Amino acid sequence: MTHTQIDTLTSWLDEARSAVFFGGAGVSTASGIPDFRSAAGLYASQGRGGRSPEYMLSHECLMNEPAEFFTFHRQNLVHPDAQPNRAHTGLAELERQARMTAVVTQNIDGLHQKAGSQVVHELHGSVQRYYCLGRGHHQFTLEQIPDSPVVPICPDCGAMIRPDVVLYGEMLDDDVVDAAVTAVRQADVLLVGGTSLNVYPAAGLLHYYRGDRLALVNLTETPMDYQADLVIHSPIDEVIGQVCDRLFV
Ligand code: OAD
Repeated sequence: MTHTQIDTLTSWLDEARSAVFFGGAGVSTASGIPDFRSAAGLYASQGRGGRSPEYMLSHECLMNEPAEFFTFHRQNLVHPDAQPNRAHTGLAELERQARMTAVVTQNIDGLHQKAGSQVVHELHGSVQRYYCLGRGHHQFTLEQIPDSPVVPICPDCGAMIRPDVVLYGEMLDDDVVDAAVTAVRQADVLLVGGTSLNVYPAAGLLHYYRGDRLALVNLTETPMDYQADLVIHSPIDEVIGQVCDRLFV
């Protein structure tokens, strides 16, 4: 990243009143949570006897092989000890300073809320929340889910409990998508970071932005780089950290 790039992003966020951040797994790698598609990511490290990672993250797997599903889920997606990094804390500070109105995330780790962000649209749900498949849809927090049995069972009705995450083969929640689209439409600055922009419909959110301050920060190239007004190929945690150091001295 260059001084000019950091200067530009700093001035955009300094003037912003309704900035929106849209992020993905790269936001949490500095917190020790692997992303999906990098060389060190979950997809490369997890070949499971012919089962693809997409299958392990699918509705089909949950229904047909719940024990396999939950073993994979607990081992790879639940990180109770992970702490927010400078990206999360910087974004929370931008919201407190009334420069940023919302974080839209594909992540399910809950680290934006842990850092203090109030308005977080979780497109793919959260591993912090669970509900049962019984009629009552009884709700639970991560802390309430025991380690055994492997497949958690609702103490109220005996139905299987599942994580409140969007699995492959499932639809995104309409209300969450609507809120995210509205925030992006009204954004003066759109900061996109730590996402390969490979997964739809989430990646399609960029098309709703109407301004001319679209900044894209990712370690590697993305299919949307050509649409951005500013592209920085550097760690998002370092970029946000440097910008916030300048804004909040
Ligand atoms: P990906 O793993 O596809 O992309 C993460 C991107 O972040 C990669 O392009 C990395 O180069 C980049 N990256 C890693 N660390 C970074 C850092 N510190 N700073 C900046 N960039 C960094 O993850 P997502 O785009 O989030 O969906 O993937 C989207 C969806 O695919 C996930 O939500 C998940 C997955 O399948 C579901 O499970 C439904």
